[in-house]
Amino acid sequence: MKKGLVLLLFLIASQLGHAQFSQAARDSLAKLTAQDHALMKAQMGITAPNRNGASGDPSSPTAANRYESKVPPYTLPDPLRLKNGVAVKNAADWWAKRRPEIVDDFEREIYGRLPAKIPATTWILEQTRDTTVGRYPIKEKYLKGVVDHSAFPELSVEIELMVATPAGATGPVPVVLEFGFIRSPFRAPAGAPANPMMAAAEPDWKEQLISRGWGYAIIVPSSIQADNGAGLRQGIIGLVNKGQPRKPDDWGALRAWAWGASRAIDYFETDKDIDAKRIAIEGLSRYGKAAIVAMAFEPRISLGFIGSSGAGGAKILRRDFGEKVENLASTGEYHWFCGNFIKYASSLTPADLPVDAHELVALCAPRPVFISSGSPQVEGQWVDAKGMFLGAVHAGPVYTLLGKKDLGTSQFPMVGTALCDGEIAFRQHAGGHTTGPNWSTWIAWACRYWGDCKYD
Ligand code: GCU
Repeated sequence: MKKGLVLLLFLIASQLGHAQFSQAARDSLAKLTAQDHALMKAQMGITAPNRNGASGDPSSPTAANRYESKVPPYTLPDPLRLKNGVAVKNAADWWAKRRPEIVDDFEREIYGRLPAKIPATTWILEQTRDTTVGRYPIKEKYLKGVVDHSAFPELSVEIELMVATPAGATGPVPVVLEFGFIRSPFRAPAGAPANPMMAAAEPDWKEQLISRGWGYAIIVPSSIQADNGAGLRQGIIGLVNKGQPRKPDDWGALRAWAWGASRAIDYFETDKDIDAKRIAIEGLSRYGKAAIVAMAFEPRISLGFIGSSGAGGAKILRRDFGEKVENLASTGEYHWFCGNFIKYASSLTPADLPVDAHELVALCAPRPVFISSGSPQVEGQWVDAKGMFLGAVHAGPVYTLLGKKDLGTSQFPMVGTALCDGEIAFRQHAGGHTTGPNWSTWIAWACRYWGDCKYD
């Protein structure tokens, strides 16, 4: 390493350390984030500036592309070809050879690796409550996952989780785990306004699940890892790193949130009200990205409902439409990923990525995964519904290799058309940035896999 670089690293690191522990109150989040971003680039020896992302404002001169005719051609990596060029022709080679290659690429270049040692999480049941959702009685449990911080007591991590199951259940029930927000009757004033994300033309998702005899759970991502770059030296990532900055292949927030979901599943395995063999993961937008990352890396997740995950989720990253890699790698969003990902918006280009989103969908195989989007007219083009559809299409060969059914078409469907015959499903509902109007379709599709679906 060059002397100047070492000095720069030292200066930035000492400044960050100072800010974190004695000047945090005076430093803005944005400044700390920019410093952390710069530090990561310096660690990697990247001097090239970051290319600018596109604007989400269609009237801006740098507006993101929203015209199909202007998408430049690209070539996707083949999920069924080993790095040595040999084609993967059977399931055994997928599991033993190709899948590990893809996992390694995603971990090293995009989402980061889990640390070798992560301290244990102990779940504490804080409160239970008998209540109702719609006209259905439910049992709610409010839990806290306390992470052992004996190795670095300066930081603590307590994961917030809420679980709801039908009160009259006669046995363990399947549960949909959502990355979201908890409006706890024990922590927030009663009568708080409903989350507008929930507003939809069909009954509330919770009510729909409970009416089927299923349960739901909500895990709060920010209780695991902050949603900004300044927080990377705190939360579970900071705790494991003992308050130090990340290395280029250390995990980002998406992987950390996904790790938290795995800890919730550890808890589900101990709760007799829950059938831990039937757990689905659901999330919207950045939490849709977290949901597919969780499913890709956690085999105990049996079904997925990936809402408007866009870039960094199911959308093909090489496809220049809507949000770009350059946006994801900017100071506003780079913390979702590992440091190495920043390279693809500075010294490298998206075409250099060793993997793309179709292979993230493929990591979920053979488990059923439902890719959801709103209508472009209402939701806008930023999430790139077609890019997510293509992520689903190009994962197809892996699903079929494993004896499952792919989307069944490569033709982009009309809004409202449910492509739900197979283990990869896709639907654009007629609404905006929500999973709301896709819940009934998702549930009907999930009933096929989970069975035991009550109708009343
Ligand atoms: C921004 C971001 C998206 C993200 C979204 C959200 O629009 O660019 O990638 O999905 O926020 O989480 O709401």
